[in-house]
Amino acid sequence: MKDRVPLPVRSLLRETGQLADRRRVRVYATGGFVRDLLIGIPNLDLDLAVEGNGIRFAKALAQRYQARVTTHDRFGTATVTLADGPTFDVATARTESYDSPAALPTVRRSSIEEDLRRRDFTINTLAIRLNTPHFGELVDHHGGRRDLKDKAIRVLHGLSFIDDPTRVFRAIRLEQRLGFQLDRNTAVLMKEAVNMKICHRLSPSRLSAEFLHVLSEREPVKTLARLADFNLLPLIHPQLKWSPGLARLLNAVEKAIQWHAGLSLGPLASPWVVYGMACMEALPQPAVQETLARLTLPGRQTQSMLWVAQEGARLLRTLNRTVKPSETFRALCTLPEETLIFLMATTRSKQTKQKITDMVTTYRKVKPVLTGHDLQTMGLEPGPLYNRLLKRLFDARLNGEVETKADECRLVNRLAKRR
Ligand code: CTP
Repeated sequence: MKDRVPLPVRSLLRETGQLADRRRVRVYATGGFVRDLLIGIPNLDLDLAVEGNGIRFAKALAQRYQARVTTHDRFGTATVTLADGPTFDVATARTESYDSPAALPTVRRSSIEEDLRRRDFTINTLAIRLNTPHFGELVDHHGGRRDLKDKAIRVLHGLSFIDDPTRVFRAIRLEQRLGFQLDRNTAVLMKEAVNMKICHRLSPSRLSAEFLHVLSEREPVKTLARLADFNLLPLIHPQLKWSPGLARLLNAVEKAIQWHAGLSLGPLASPWVVYGMACMEALPQPAVQETLARLTLPGRQTQSMLWVAQEGARLLRTLNRTVKPSETFRALCTLPEETLIFLMATTRSKQTKQKITDMVTTYRKVKPVLTGHDLQTMGLEPGPLYNRLLKRLFDARLNGEVETKADECRLVNRLAKRR
């Protein structure tokens, strides 16, 4: 831990252990945090498991750091968000039993051993003790460390995917993200589960959450390709198939996102939407509507995906015809950044690419020098005319028709006289 966890986080963990000592509960760091720590990937999503009442402990932790806490009573879990630090997901150590496949489990309080046994893959069953005399000791009951070394994704038992089909998606995400391989038996079990159509039992909201996780991976293209290997894309829509065209488009999207990142305009709010748009492009119109109506993806982004599917091609034709920068600006100004990036990825036209580049890098920063206040000083009566004049000034700036304040004043006088 010493070399790999930043000092402030290490102190935080030590203090968490001391708080647990005082409250006479045992507390462990678990899950993705420990896995990533051991393979040297920075991960500040701290998962804690408490042998005792996790929610009560989370509240004490939140009080100690004057942090925000959200509780999920049904699952005995809570999230503690520190003002300038990491997020703690605190869980009561628990067993889960599945009343029916693909349903949410019934939860019972238990020991850390049992809690680790219910988990998806061996590499996620590692825990680190945080209580004082044992601070930093690794708990490894299921060969997690060995599998980390062997880069293997291995389930703990034969019914793992049947109990929880979301693990099929989790296995593929982890495999692709970490560059690991499914252990042979795990791959067989996964294929069997897929052939039994076990994933079809997932509710639309659970399926949507998994699809969103896949699209939000750092490298979603290879993750989607792997989903296709396991014939999982038709879960999104029966007509969604992997094809050279879809692969090309997804790669073009990846490049367009990299291009955008290189412009240093700040991080893109939802890069996943652009990949989502590419997947929808592979479907006929009615299928896009069906898919987006069934999935429960965030609303604003769903609207963008629907808009692109319906209007994207027409917009590209319009863009082909624009001559003046102001025309390009009007065609693009209401679109979210993600949509512009998708259009960049789909168009083959060099001119259109340049127009989108100009929009993203330049046009949005353009501003006339004159303001409403200046128009007033020039003796113009305030009213709807101001809007028209300022818009005309803006267009003139974009089109390079005015360069100086004096140019703008001349234009305003000319337009005002013409009225
Ligand atoms: N888990 C599980 N089965 C699931 C979901 C989660 O067994 N369907 C377990 C895993 O052991 C996981 C832990 O719960 O490590 C916490 O879940 P989550 O925070 O979703 O996973 P992380 O591994 O922390 O995050 P990620 O995989 O995205 O890195």
